[in-house]
Amino acid sequence: MGIFETIHNRKNTRSVKWDLVKDLFQSEDVLPMWVADMDFQAPEAVNQALIERATHGIYGYTIVDESVKSSIVNWISKRHHWKIESHWLSFSPGVVTTLHMAIQALTEPDDAILIQTPVYTPFYNVIEAHNRKIVRNPLILDGNKYMIDFLDFEEKLKQGIKAFILCNPHNPVGRVWTKEELEKMVTLCEEYNVLIISDEIHSDLTFPNKKHISIASISEEIANNSVTCMAPSKTFNLAGLQASYAITPNKIIREKLDQQFFTQGFHGLNTMGNTALEAAYNYGEEWLDGLREIIHSHYHFVKDKLEKHTKLRVSDGDGTYLVWIDCSSLNLDAKGLKKFFNEEAKVGLNAGVDYGKEAEQYMRMNIACPKEILEEGVYRIIQALQNR
Ligand SMILES: Cc1ncc(COP(=O)(O)O)c(C=O)c1O
Repeated sequence: MGIFETIHNRKNTRSVKWDLVKDLFQSEDVLPMWVADMDFQAPEAVNQALIERATHGIYGYTIVDESVKSSIVNWISKRHHWKIESHWLSFSPGVVTTLHMAIQALTEPDDAILIQTPVYTPFYNVIEAHNRKIVRNPLILDGNKYMIDFLDFEEKLKQGIKAFILCNPHNPVGRVWTKEELEKMVTLCEEYNVLIISDEIHSDLTFPNKKHISIASISEEIANNSVTCMAPSKTFNLAGLQASYAITPNKIIREKLDQQFFTQGFHGLNTMGNTALEAAYNYGEEWLDGLREIIHSHYHFVKDKLEKHTKLRVSDGDGTYLVWIDCSSLNLDAKGLKKFFNEEAKVGLNAGVDYGKEAEQYMRMNIACPKEILEEGVYRIIQALQNR
């Protein structure tokens, strides 16, 4: 059986996805397909590196040394064709932590921060938590595909935007922004002098025929007015090890960001996160390409089955293991939709409304699980709709 087909029991592992089912969905028999981690084991090289490190048995304060930094520099060059330098890196336990730090370090209270909605819920939280103002540039639909409304984007920039938090690839709609789209955003951000904070945590998880481009690689000018957030956590299923990093060639921005981390008491990656990151980037490529094939085929499975047997519609995505489902044909509001999926279909998905009020008739499904589990989830939904 292939590594992506084996079913591992994740219950009683302190798993957010599997051990909070009853608390979140009010019933033990709901199949969890929500929070963004995977039901696959990390690459064997990562497991071996962690075992080897644990065998040493001493877990004192740990440095992020040049060999860890080189693994990142090489990864980004190989996978994303962006030449970065190791001193451009800052380290963080998570991308959400970095977003909090960047907003505090690089913007002021009451500054306007632009986001493209519907979008990953913490984007709203990081802006509000530090008393900045949310400005929305809602995505628009072209058929089943989400696009950027550039007229609105420019209109909002004209009104005075301090920073723009970009999500590329976009969670939850699954778009991987094209070079043309990125160039247009860059031109406008340069014109209106807007700092870009680019969350690229899903960048390794494009469908096999799609290419991720870091916005900072588009021009030197924008690289110098940006912070790019990346991590091996989504890519290799290492979220619990809390290791991520930010990239900026701009010394002033980097020093402000590092000072923010320092002021808030953060100093360095944990021992196991450090070890896993390096092993994943040095030895995980083959595993990752296998994973991307699986995710792509799972995406088509879900799209084909749901669209053939129900009136649900799946957004045209280019990557991520998060599938964005238009449930407007059910004519239910957010509460009714949640109730239907939890109580009738017994599948635990993320509610669209959590990503933006415009998405109350959407649900997000995590497809990074063995095919057998995916089939079970999809058939539960089809069956529940047929029984209505
Ligand atoms: C766009 C995006 N950013 C950040 C995160 C979380 O990152 P971290 O666990 O490193 O804080 C997620 C997780 O789902 C995400 O989808």
